[in-house]
Amino acid sequence: MQITEAMDAREMQEDDILRRLGELKTRDEVELTRHEDTEHLLRRMVRESPLRYDFAPLFSGPDEWRLHIRVRDESEPRSVMQYLGWDHDRLDDLLSRGLELARTDRWEDAAPLLQDFRSGLFRHIDIENEILFKAFEEVTGIGSGGPTTVMRHEHVDIKEYVDGILQAAADRNPDELERQHANLLGVLVEHNMKEENILYPATDRALDPASRTHLVEDLLLH
Ligand SMILES: [Fe+2]
Ligand SMILES: [Fe+2]
Repeated sequence: MQITEAMDAREMQEDDILRRLGELKTRDEVELTRHEDTEHLLRRMVRESPLRYDFAPLFSGPDEWRLHIRVRDESEPRSVMQYLGWDHDRLDDLLSRGLELARTDRWEDAAPLLQDFRSGLFRHIDIENEILFKAFEEVTGIGSGGPTTVMRHEHVDIKEYVDGILQAAADRNPDELERQHANLLGVLVEHNMKEENILYPATDRALDPASRTHLVEDLLLH
């Protein structure tokens, strides 16, 4: 998955941004840059075109905000599986592009991609811990000692290995980079599979369509 278009919205008014986004086609993806907080814009996107966009922050302030936005197929209902599954793919892509650059000794170009990967994955983990897992525990009645407890522990390890990757890149240490990457994959691959095969679909199934849409909007706007 590649971002197809860069959209510099630093000098644009919100209405103009929404108009430009409205011209995009289904499955188009853009990286939008803004130099003010995008929270208000994102709320309008969800309110005015409820099923049209998926988005995730790439970088959040204080001087610049960057977002990855994808135009959804609006005939598809919102689901946890669809949104967070897309976010997994998006993050995998950032990591592999960052590593590819690091492996060809382009450490300076690798750094911002790895930084975006880190902040994106940490945000993904936060919305799972604080919103999704609570919803899962509530609708299934399976609380502490269940799958979300395991996933929360894995999140701690994942964060540690991601920081290891960033440190290795800052030190320009290829062996340490590969070691930390192997550590990360040792947890992350199966972790994401468990979420996509069990936790996300179980949460989706337990909710009616309106509650499911509401939950995904909470994840999007957190
Ligand atoms: Fe997770
Ligand atoms: Fe996840």
